[in-house]
Amino acid sequence: MALLSNFGGVAVFASMMITLLVHLPYQVISTSRTASTVEGFLGGLCASSVHIHGYKCQEFQVSTDDGYILSVQRIPPHRSSSVVGSDGPKTSRPSPPVLLQHGLLVDGMTWLLNSPGQSLAFILADSGFDVWISNIRGTRFSRRHVTLNANINPEFWDWTWDDLIMNDLPAVINFIFKQTGQKLHYVGHSLGTLMALASFSSGNEKQVVDKVKSAALLSPIAYLSHMTTAFGVVAARSFVGEITTMFGLAEFNPKGEPVAIFIKAICAQPGVDCYDLLTELTGKNCCLNSTVVDLFLNTEPQPTSTKNLVHLAQTVRDGRLAKYDYGNANFNLEHYGNVKPPAYDLTRIPRDLPIFLSYGGRDALSDVKDMEALLDDLKNHDIDKLHVQYIKDYAHVDFIMGLTANDLVYNQIIKFFNNQQ
Ligand SMILES: *[C@@H]1O[C@H](CO)[C@@H](O)[C@H](O)[C@H]1NC(C)=O
Repeated sequence: MALLSNFGGVAVFASMMITLLVHLPYQVISTSRTASTVEGFLGGLCASSVHIHGYKCQEFQVSTDDGYILSVQRIPPHRSSSVVGSDGPKTSRPSPPVLLQHGLLVDGMTWLLNSPGQSLAFILADSGFDVWISNIRGTRFSRRHVTLNANINPEFWDWTWDDLIMNDLPAVINFIFKQTGQKLHYVGHSLGTLMALASFSSGNEKQVVDKVKSAALLSPIAYLSHMTTAFGVVAARSFVGEITTMFGLAEFNPKGEPVAIFIKAICAQPGVDCYDLLTELTGKNCCLNSTVVDLFLNTEPQPTSTKNLVHLAQTVRDGRLAKYDYGNANFNLEHYGNVKPPAYDLTRIPRDLPIFLSYGGRDALSDVKDMEALLDDLKNHDIDKLHVQYIKDYAHVDFIMGLTANDLVYNQIIKFFNNQQ
């Protein structure tokens, strides 16, 4: 890409980031005000997005080992037990639990935006599954911590996806296991696939993988070095590690003014077309409902930590899947006992773990070449435990909001899960 070879202007972005970070305290205050008014569903996702469709829904709070309090929703099977019913009257086999793990800069609402007949969470509940929805730290219903205040303490934002793997995922999975007494099926989208793959490869860290019966991974991202979005590539160049060491930790709120400034500056770069930012970022989605896209853009963009984006940017630049790089040999030595951050070795994912992968030909984030690198890591996987689906016309968002996703993808996932019983 010509754009990148003549892109010497990291300084431009450094200065944008300074603007961004200098403005943060102001912006953080305004965020908390919006949170209590516009998004004031104190009941959480159940109240805002589930009960309105006539489904049951329960709210839970789950604490992580490092003190974050996550909101988790449960939608029990929706239809009466006769649904499964070719084997006569009610068998009391418990409904299999499924955990839905959303991606970056969104929360659990992404599974609930379309009509019940088109949204994966409702479709699973209709098909007899016990559906659990997680919301990672920092998103609107998971902005709490036992000692830290997200709006006041920058330490609240001192985390990357390493910490989601180490803490959020084990907390939620262990909680569901305790509640249901069963292993669960996992569905991840985007960052939710990276969390799963990295976690499953890390030995049995905090007893996660042995509580997972199977995993369906949509728009997998593990390797990101072939990402085709010019916006993403430029953004990745600008999120240099020094940002956090120089300016401290901060919230990255996509709805805040500083981020708007940051986005505008990236959009001004040659080769970056922001006329349709969703397409620029995720690829040419074939099958979205424009009404729902508007709803998505109004409600969904959720905060993450700046440090998390720095870590993702490292993954894009380095073509290596590893823990957060402190950008300084001494800091790395202090944290990891090594000058380089340790790698996540995806070849160590248990070979007999049933995995369903679905990826799209137009996905700007989960590029086909990066997907091939992932498949190469899985080349020794038990052949009958790995199902790979390729959908030529799909881009990143089609997998969660596509009007054809039920027919093309969700039916396959349900069949796949039912085969693992
Ligand atoms: C698009 O979304 C709107 C709002 O939810 C809905 O009324 C409409 O039926 C949807 N269109 C299709 C084709 O599903």
